[in-house]
Amino acid sequence: MYKIFHNTKDDHEVETDLSDLIVKFDAKKILILTGQNSFSESKAENFLISELKDKYTKSNFYSDFENNPKIEDLNHAIQKLSSKEIELIIACGGGSVIDFAKLLKVYLYDASSILDFPGKYKNPSKSQISMIAIPTTAGTGSEATHFSVLYDNKKKYSIASDHMLPDYSVLNSSICLNASLKIKSSCVIDAFSQAIESFWSVGANLESIKFAKQAIYLINKHIDNFHINHKDENVMSDILLGAHYSGKAINISKTTAPHALSYSITSFFGIPHGHAVGMTLGEFFIINEQLASMNAVNCRDLSSHMLQMEALRELLGWGDCISCNDKWKSIMKNLGLNMQVKLNDGQKKVIDRLVDSVNTERLSNNPVSITKENIIKLYLNIIS
Ligand SMILES: [Fe+2]
Repeated sequence: MYKIFHNTKDDHEVETDLSDLIVKFDAKKILILTGQNSFSESKAENFLISELKDKYTKSNFYSDFENNPKIEDLNHAIQKLSSKEIELIIACGGGSVIDFAKLLKVYLYDASSILDFPGKYKNPSKSQISMIAIPTTAGTGSEATHFSVLYDNKKKYSIASDHMLPDYSVLNSSICLNASLKIKSSCVIDAFSQAIESFWSVGANLESIKFAKQAIYLINKHIDNFHINHKDENVMSDILLGAHYSGKAINISKTTAPHALSYSITSFFGIPHGHAVGMTLGEFFIINEQLASMNAVNCRDLSSHMLQMEALRELLGWGDCISCNDKWKSIMKNLGLNMQVKLNDGQKKVIDRLVDSVNTERLSNNPVSITKENIIKLYLNIIS
């Protein structure tokens, strides 16, 4: 069983199956975008073959890009694929696959707007290519957002456009079961962090808070035993839906400081995205409450911000801000996600480069201002 959501309508589940949906698109030229190995190893390939039937063999396939895609990967794909006149992209994979597909959705249609990246790049403003996103990890929620991450020389850029939002998301928990616990753990922490960050984000509104609450409820219900129950399809179904709602929440509110700090942890140490976010998130339960009266508050007034933090803690049911940080660390430990990076003496100089690479746009979404000293302390905390 799987669910299909129409992303362009408000959280609208459609009563159709994938094969009928693809017939309705009436696309002659289909591009199927997948990861390099995971696709054939998972049940995703069989799922697509059975749903697309003869359209599957007639499709174009592409998987020549890395996790956390770089500008070189994008330029290479544009060169290879621009003559194919693609009308529909089906992205079947993890967050990087779906992020990359969203970039192709706009840049295969109009390659000119990426030519001078990152010098004069503008967010893309048009596309007539349709897209269906099928996550095989639960999840990043990338299928429900209108932005993608693109790296250039280890620096992270966020490309955003309404035209990048996939038209439909297909949520099939059975194709998410095969991944290793390590991958699943990083993904569930990404989804959980996104929902928590969305809840306290400067950009939160009533709609994003509604989605964040749904995500937090669905993920929190299973998180303590996820390392034991991750092969249970009912558990995975809740987590996949929770991840989707976390995507819908940050599609409105954007993420905040833990995400801002995570991108350099990923690019310098190769730590997977969700894992990297989770390494600092717990501390922000304390920072966003205890520093709120000392550092400037970026949003609302101080009392509304404190009420929002209290509402979040009540929803989670983990006690005060110190207990929330402790609880977060125990969740990370249960999932086997290390909170420390071991560096040799030569590598310790990396701290200045880490601080310089922090994503300031996402940092400004944090409800409490984060100083350079705060950032250095947070990075020193995770380095041994
Ligand atoms: Fe994320």
